[in-house]
Amino acid sequence: MSDRASPSSPGAAGAGVGSEAGAAGAAPGSEEAAASAAELAAMRRALALAASSDVVPSPNPRVGCVLLDPAGRTVAAGFHRGAGTPHAEVDALRQAGGRARGGTAVVTLEPCAHTGRTGPCADALLAAGVARVVYGQADPNQLAAGGAARLAAGGVAVVGGVLAEEASALNAAWTFAVTHGRPFVTWKVAATLDGRVAAADGTSRWITGAAARADVHRLRAEVDAVLVGTGTALVDDPSLTVRAADGSPGPCQPLRVVMGMRAIPDGSRLRDGLAPLRVLATHDPAAALAALAAEEVRHVLLEGGPTVAAAFLRAGLVDRVVWYLAPALLGAGPAAIDDLGIATITDIRRLRVATVDRVGHDLRITATMEPEPHD
Ligand SMILES: NC(=O)c1ccc[n+]([C@@H]2O[C@H](COP(=O)([O-])OP(=O)(O)OC[C@H]3O[C@@H](n4cnc5c(N)ncnc54)[C@H](OP(=O)(O)O)[C@@H]3O)[C@@H](O)[C@H]2O)c1
Repeated sequence: MSDRASPSSPGAAGAGVGSEAGAAGAAPGSEEAAASAAELAAMRRALALAASSDVVPSPNPRVGCVLLDPAGRTVAAGFHRGAGTPHAEVDALRQAGGRARGGTAVVTLEPCAHTGRTGPCADALLAAGVARVVYGQADPNQLAAGGAARLAAGGVAVVGGVLAEEASALNAAWTFAVTHGRPFVTWKVAATLDGRVAAADGTSRWITGAAARADVHRLRAEVDAVLVGTGTALVDDPSLTVRAADGSPGPCQPLRVVMGMRAIPDGSRLRDGLAPLRVLATHDPAAALAALAAEEVRHVLLEGGPTVAAAFLRAGLVDRVVWYLAPALLGAGPAAIDDLGIATITDIRRLRVATVDRVGHDLRITATMEPEPHD
């Protein structure tokens, strides 16, 4: 739990710019220092609202906002729906009209202080006469940060870090991308029990069942780009779009990215116009990610074959693995990854399992790259 501003840890935040480290100008333990029960409930609602949209607002984060009157009653609630649309605070303020004056804004992310496609939310809250702001995650984006300080300078009581862990979890890939300067990379594999991703003749449809394939479409809907090498593009002729079980396209399509030197023929599914396509004539994963970061891609789903997977792993550019394991055997055919340069067992690359789920007839193992302590 990171509810460090809750009444159970009253010294953690306060009026002025509260933070997990303590609050400037606040009397620790004062009533102002903690989020009230109504504010905590409002934060939970704001978190649910932020998560509610089917469409990831990328390149922006998911954000929710609930406005309370001085008695702690909800007057409005809003969330951000995507770049160029109102931020959560503005969405809620528009609904509240004059009723925001003297009240509290409860926001999942620190209100921004910069002018991007829309104006600074900190200024909108000041103009609306909000007396207090309670936020979850501090803004990790250097471009937009500083909203809490601006609000405090304007006389608003500010409490940060409320349900911060939950708030950060809403935007894990976005947070990673803005702090690391490159997209978060999820590597997805569909393999047999003997670790094969295709048969000896290169065919690979369908190693896993319908439920796992539907789950991959859900994964694609969460990312900004799906990346394969030319090998997969030419052998499989994949479409890499988000589709429902009946084949209908999802409301939002990630960028399709192919990495490699060979040309993608005109008749390929990747050229069907259903989603944009980028061909990156490089073998360097870091260069590919830099090109995608320049397009504000926050999360890449790596769906390539063994060659590209090994290149990203060798470069240390895989952050999470989603491995669909089919109870099936091939005995021959390409393994999931090419050579990683590991010659002896002491150099084994261990991962940390985050979740194991059954998806239809298959298993889904999610792992991160921090090695699990091994005994
Ligand atoms: N079951 C699964 O989850 C799954 C997923 C994907 C693919 N597959 C299977 O994997 C097979 C294709 O394997 P693959 O390894 O050829 O696919 P790949 O890794 O997607 O593509 C490899 C090609 O990409 C280019 N490339 C990009 N970066 C590279 C780098 N760092 N080093 C070397 N080459 C790089 C090279 O082509 P250029 O010469 O054009 O540069 C290379 O031949 C197919 O049978 C497919 O069905 C299975």
